[in-house]
Amino acid sequence: MKLPQTIVFATNNSHKLQEARDILKDRCNVLSLSEINCNDDIPETAPTLEGNALLKARWVKERYGYDCFADDTGLEVAALDGAPGVKSARYAACCGESSDHDSQANMRVLLDNLKGITERSAQFRTVIALISDGKEFTFEGKVKGEILEFPAGNDGFGYDPVFRPEGQTLTFAEMSAGQKNSMSHRRRALDAMLAELE
Ligand code: IMP
Repeated sequence: MKLPQTIVFATNNSHKLQEARDILKDRCNVLSLSEINCNDDIPETAPTLEGNALLKARWVKERYGYDCFADDTGLEVAALDGAPGVKSARYAACCGESSDHDSQANMRVLLDNLKGITERSAQFRTVIALISDGKEFTFEGKVKGEILEFPAGNDGFGYDPVFRPEGQTLTFAEMSAGQKNSMSHRRRALDAMLAELE
């Protein structure tokens, strides 16, 4: 599959954009939502990561005409049957504890739900949906690890302070951005997309 000259990444998150631009550099021009004047609150109402990534990519293709890719990520904890999963951004809000995207509240609910549980394996999973040349594709990236009992580290975002990747001594929040991005779930999903594009 060939890359178009210009592609939209359905996000305005500057960290994600930088990561995608670094990986796709020289190959194509990556535009953010604001750069195509898309200020829509794109609904993420699907029951799966795949579904949400496709919803976002289709929204951009259908309304703005650009080839596009979109991502959705979830933290999947084995002892909680895969929760918070697709609800990762709004885990605490789902229990009526706070508003969406409240990382501190999300971590508190997660640690509460794991209290007394010793089997703490978990994974971050990112799905990227790509619409290019009239076709749809999905790619996946995963990082396995475990949920600590207490947060450690101040960098990163979301659940980073409580997630330690397999084989590492540091949580994602204790790593430099470069170190985290070199092994992240998003990085692996972007690499999978790149491999398909070559
Ligand atoms: P999104 O699909 O990238 O917006 O991710 C959904 C939610 O998953 C975020 O609001 C975070 O709570 C969590 N999340 C996604 N990626 C990461 C990460 O790299 N570290 C920690 N939490 C993350």
